[in-house]
Amino acid sequence: MASVKEFHRRSIEDRESFWREQAALVHWHKPFSRVLDYSRPPFAKWFVGGETNLCHNALDRHLAERGDQAALVYVSTEVNEERSYTYRELHAEVQRAAAMMQSLGVKKGDRVVIYMPMIPEACFAMLACARIGAIHSVVFGGFAAASLAARIDDARPKLMLTADGGSRMGKVVLYKALVDEALRLAKHPPEKVLIYRRGLDPNMPAAAGRDVDWKALAARHEGAQVPCAWLESNEPSYILYTSGTTGQPKGVQRDVGGYAVALAASMKHIFCGGPGETMFTTSDIGWVVGHSYIVYAPLIAGMTTILYEGVPIRPDAGIWWKIVQDRRVNVMFSAPTAIRVLKKQDPAYLKKYDLSSLRHLFLAGEPLDEPTHVWISQALDKPVIDHYWQTETGWPILSAMPGVEKTPIKFGSPSFPVFGYDLQLLREVDAEPAAANEKAVVAIVPPLPPGCMSTVWGDDARFVKTYFSTFSKMQVYSTFDWGIRDAEGYYFILGRTDDVINVAGHRLGTREIEEAVSMHPNIAECAVVGVQDALKGQMPLAFAVAKDGSKLATPQGRAQLEKEVMETVDKQLGAIARPRTVHFVTLLPKTRSGKTLRRAIQALAEGRDPGDLTTIEDPGALEQIRNALKEKAAA
Ligand code: PRX
Repeated sequence: MASVKEFHRRSIEDRESFWREQAALVHWHKPFSRVLDYSRPPFAKWFVGGETNLCHNALDRHLAERGDQAALVYVSTEVNEERSYTYRELHAEVQRAAAMMQSLGVKKGDRVVIYMPMIPEACFAMLACARIGAIHSVVFGGFAAASLAARIDDARPKLMLTADGGSRMGKVVLYKALVDEALRLAKHPPEKVLIYRRGLDPNMPAAAGRDVDWKALAARHEGAQVPCAWLESNEPSYILYTSGTTGQPKGVQRDVGGYAVALAASMKHIFCGGPGETMFTTSDIGWVVGHSYIVYAPLIAGMTTILYEGVPIRPDAGIWWKIVQDRRVNVMFSAPTAIRVLKKQDPAYLKKYDLSSLRHLFLAGEPLDEPTHVWISQALDKPVIDHYWQTETGWPILSAMPGVEKTPIKFGSPSFPVFGYDLQLLREVDAEPAAANEKAVVAIVPPLPPGCMSTVWGDDARFVKTYFSTFSKMQVYSTFDWGIRDAEGYYFILGRTDDVINVAGHRLGTREIEEAVSMHPNIAECAVVGVQDALKGQMPLAFAVAKDGSKLATPQGRAQLEKEVMETVDKQLGAIARPRTVHFVTLLPKTRSGKTLRRAIQALAEGRDPGDLTTIEDPGALEQIRNALKEKAAA
């Protein structure tokens, strides 16, 4: 076994031969002529000239050897249903979905927006897009109509896919009704909407000429055979929107070949999942973790993947461990918030099931606090691997790599830089490398490795400006995270350098939430900051200035406006972005040049010292923040 250090060193110093070797993990219809073309920094092209297809690698390639093995197992504790598809069955379903989309005019390069609950049809749709070279953009089902409309207008899809409804905690969520509203708001709505009816909304309205019924169309394409489109490695596979510093979400664009190779390599060296084994990733297909580790990576590796529709505590807090036992799960991937939720439940649930098949539990998406890391490691008596990455990278940046070397786990640390990432900790002031234990910006010296974002959809300039302009001295990719490295080389992530917050593993921009709050007719301006939350990691708090302050004279008036503001956020962005509280002030702390002092507000809200305030325009504004916080705490 090589050491992780040596493995990593080779991936950077001998980049091309390293990735040529990893590229053999996937099928190439036509071999690539160059491993890397980096003639236009910071844009990296991997496996240039090679032709491949994500769907072929995920399905067709396995048919001869594992056609009868389960590929996708759907478990829903929401509608009490289980369905299992072998590789052969999934292959047939995906071809049928591809034929259905083609019959609605979808061609290579067209965008397809998928706004669907966690049902097998959503996976069929993703893989069908990959098969025919259409570009999918899955939007998380928790996003509100206005957010969905903004994504539709940016992606300009030919087709939209949805379902009549989803279910959360046993309550029906009306997907189609929300899609209808989004399409009313959108400037560039698609011509057709394909709807999978689950029977969750018997009164679902349908627009004649636009809305198409999935099941009726599927019946006409039974047994369809649709060949894979062979795509040049650098053609786009999907767009996934993510939040940043501006209110406008960025479309992270991914390639085909680099992504396939990176996922296959990560499965082998990090997650240690092999053909015939089972992976259970508890995320949602609307997030990057779902794209990479519910859908593509396990299938590319010839594994069985579990698609779970439900929450971790229904019917009881043992449900995930029951799935691990019943489905003989080998690799599990979840998020720290979920573990914190389970930690509050009866620990007996963890002892009730036979977890002997499980080798590792991987956790990512937000900081994993040490007490939670210790608790779950002891409760499972298995290695629990914290690993760190982003929508932009598509696969881990920092992780232990048990497939390479079994290094000891340090609680609270996502261990070491993953192969392919030339990771640096750079001082914010002068871009000089930080010393051991010195807090600095986590940066990646380009080229980014295979699988990472190729660009911002439709906006190369924004890609360069957003990610590669943090330091004037040199062009490096900023993760916008703070980190430190200890004397033994273990990394620790200390939170974002920008205005992005992480609520229960959901990435949100405070600017987006501010824009949503400001949609309320009586809000003049506001500041939103993320504050620590014991369960969710962080929660948004809003500080708002009302246009008509007379409404705020009484506690009832303030409570009423707070409620209305929260409802406005629900409507604009979705309930995941709802502020924990809305505080009313008459002015916000700003610098003399008019920049809101968010970090000072955040410090006060977390009970810390607000730091250097020499640039503040009016110190009275900070006093108002203090008083508003005190008043809420007292109430
Ligand atoms: O701030 C980091 C945090 O989540 C951000 C990326 O979120 P997202 O794009 O949704 O991708 C999640 C993919 C797993 C990062 O910039 N983050 C992610 N993992 C960790 C983390 N923070 C601390 N520790 C982690 N393990």
